[in-house]
Amino acid sequence: MDVVILAAGMGTRMKSTLPKVLHRIFDKPIIDYVIECAQSLKPASILVVVNPSLTEVIQYLNSKAIKIVFQNEPKGTANALYSALPYIKNEKILILNGDTPLIKKDTLLNFLKIFDEKAQDLAILSFYPVREHSYGRILRNSKGDVEKIVEITDYTGSESGEANSGVYLVKKEVLELVKEIKINPRKGEFYLTDIVEIAISKGYKVDAYALAQEDELIGINNREELALAMKYLRDRVVKEWMNEGVTFYDPGSVWISPSVKIGQDTIIYPDVFLEGDTTIGRNCVIYQGTRIRDSIIEDNVLIKDCTVIESSHVKAGSKIGPFAHLRPESVIGKECRIGNFVEVKKSVIGDRTKAAHLSYLGDSEIGENVNIGAGTITCNYDGKRKHKTIIEDNVFIGSDTQLVAPVKVGKGAYIGAGSTITKNVPEDSLAISRTPQRNIEGWANKKREKK
Ligand code: UD1
Ligand code: CA
Repeated sequence: MDVVILAAGMGTRMKSTLPKVLHRIFDKPIIDYVIECAQSLKPASILVVVNPSLTEVIQYLNSKAIKIVFQNEPKGTANALYSALPYIKNEKILILNGDTPLIKKDTLLNFLKIFDEKAQDLAILSFYPVREHSYGRILRNSKGDVEKIVEITDYTGSESGEANSGVYLVKKEVLELVKEIKINPRKGEFYLTDIVEIAISKGYKVDAYALAQEDELIGINNREELALAMKYLRDRVVKEWMNEGVTFYDPGSVWISPSVKIGQDTIIYPDVFLEGDTTIGRNCVIYQGTRIRDSIIEDNVLIKDCTVIESSHVKAGSKIGPFAHLRPESVIGKECRIGNFVEVKKSVIGDRTKAAHLSYLGDSEIGENVNIGAGTITCNYDGKRKHKTIIEDNVFIGSDTQLVAPVKVGKGAYIGAGSTITKNVPEDSLAISRTPQRNIEGWANKKREKK
């Protein structure tokens, strides 16, 4: 079997400078979903029909294991297939729309099975939309046989009823009939859907099979349909995780990328975004408004409200947030506490270390059982370069300390609150750099008398 993916339309209804098939659903462009689904069927070849002026699409597709075919002008879906004809080598062809990303492999396998079992020459994958739409309507005669497909804009009957998903299975000799399709005078395009009537008139076996619903077969033509497709995919992903034992307080408000993994008995509050290559462990709780991307969160982690975690690793039993920001390349040890308004960047933090309030920890290596007082700042940047701060095990850093990097605080040392540390601190010592306090008695009374 060969697969042809139609992606040479101009996507004008998106009203975008970005080509339609490059718009993203979660982390991937629309076209990726279609290509990956096609690849999962292991066909002999995958041809993607593209308009030569869509250079961004061509560039994007260059790295993929597919063959790009050019349709020189966007003269309709039949013309797109006509452009692909010379490259089709096999007897059976699966046609997919580049703007129909949510289709599942199992549905296509089922479609293929029926096509073979019923010895069809042309089969249409159909469905019954439940909203106002712009799909083609499949018309059947009184015996129930498919007669033709009429685009909704050329159709005067009721919109509801069997619709064309734009997914077809067709034998090579039937596909050759695209050459006979006449231009649609109203739109000035060659409609692939016209092949149905032509094939039937020549005695080929044609039928349509409603094997899925719009949550799989939605075609994305505009922003409204893009949003709807995202919602459909979100609902699918969340449902799968609920089946695996994950609790969602408000399943309709979270956005979880299909690539994310979540452990059993984890609880997810509303408005949580889990993106990219993220793994969440078991028994975690993620509070409202948190976004986690490309990160590993181990078991029993508590992430409080409005926390952002990017390309980081949080080990088991730690508590993060509220309002914490873990920036890329941060590793938080076991049973740590990274609290309110703490920002961590490119830092490794040992087990049971606490930075509970208002800190910036950047380019640092922090040991186990360290206490980072409120307001501690690593001054890691001298205006030109970044420098490292090393804090060894069991250190106690008093509140409002500035650590001017590069600097090292040795094991078990204490730093007095309000210190500016510019030199290394030896093990087990106390470093204190604040100006000694002076009390001037009666000063306030004198000031008031003057007034
Ligand atoms: C098309 C079908 C419609 C079906 C719907 C399913 C036709 C005439 N209509 O309508 O019956 O219900 O899909 O979603 O086929 N394309 C090209 N070259 C072109 C024009 C389009 O490659 O010259 C590609 C597009 O990139 C797109 C696909 O073909 O991926 C469908 O084109 P689109 O313009 O979106 O057709 P619809 O109006 O959605
Ligand atoms: Ca479409």
